[in-house]
Amino acid sequence: MVDLHAHILPNVDHGSNGINTSLQQIRMAEKAGVKKIVATPHFYNNKDNLSEFLDRRDAGYNALKNTLTAKNINIEIIKAAEVNLQVDLFKNDLRKLCIGDTNYLLLEMPMNVNWTFWHYDAIDEIIALGINPIIAHINRYSSYFLQRLFKKDILYQINIEAFLTFSSRRKALSLYKNGYAHFIGSDIHGKDNNPYEIMAKYKTKYSKVFNDFELNSYSILNS
Ligand SMILES: [Fe+2]
Repeated sequence: MVDLHAHILPNVDHGSNGINTSLQQIRMAEKAGVKKIVATPHFYNNKDNLSEFLDRRDAGYNALKNTLTAKNINIEIIKAAEVNLQVDLFKNDLRKLCIGDTNYLLLEMPMNVNWTFWHYDAIDEIIALGINPIIAHINRYSSYFLQRLFKKDILYQINIEAFLTFSSRRKALSLYKNGYAHFIGSDIHGKDNNPYEIMAKYKTKYSKVFNDFELNSYSILNS
């Protein structure tokens, strides 16, 4: 399994306060059969300086990679970011925040504000730069705002939490069937919740769906 959205790098964002937390997160993933984790620390344009962020991310990535090698844990970590869509975002070279060496970018839409024409146009602007946005945790936004987004030819990541309850699962499966869920993510923060247990459970129950998530993940990671 590939986890396309995870806050597992030590001391990069609030997802992990150190290598011990990261290691516990990785152990949960390992137990669930995850082979690759796309590490997506939050990038907030209004708070983060890009070069400082990249240095911090490199340090976290190297620390985790060394630990995984020392402990013989065979999970690949891929550097990426969860980029919050904000005004002035374009002053940054967004390629540096893409997933690994690809031109795919995990993009978080604003949560507690109305989406305006600017937000929808910004997505077109990202595409015009030759970057493919993947909208993070599609299950979390209001369907009112999503309708306009769905007119665009873009990709979507869904969080495993969407499979937890009957009604949210029905919505998740409907998003998948309609072509609005391409990748699965744990969106793990900290070590107190284990989203990988939910992933392991539903990957067996909905094997075709999770197989498609897997194929789509490999397809972009190998692009
Ligand atoms: Fe996240």
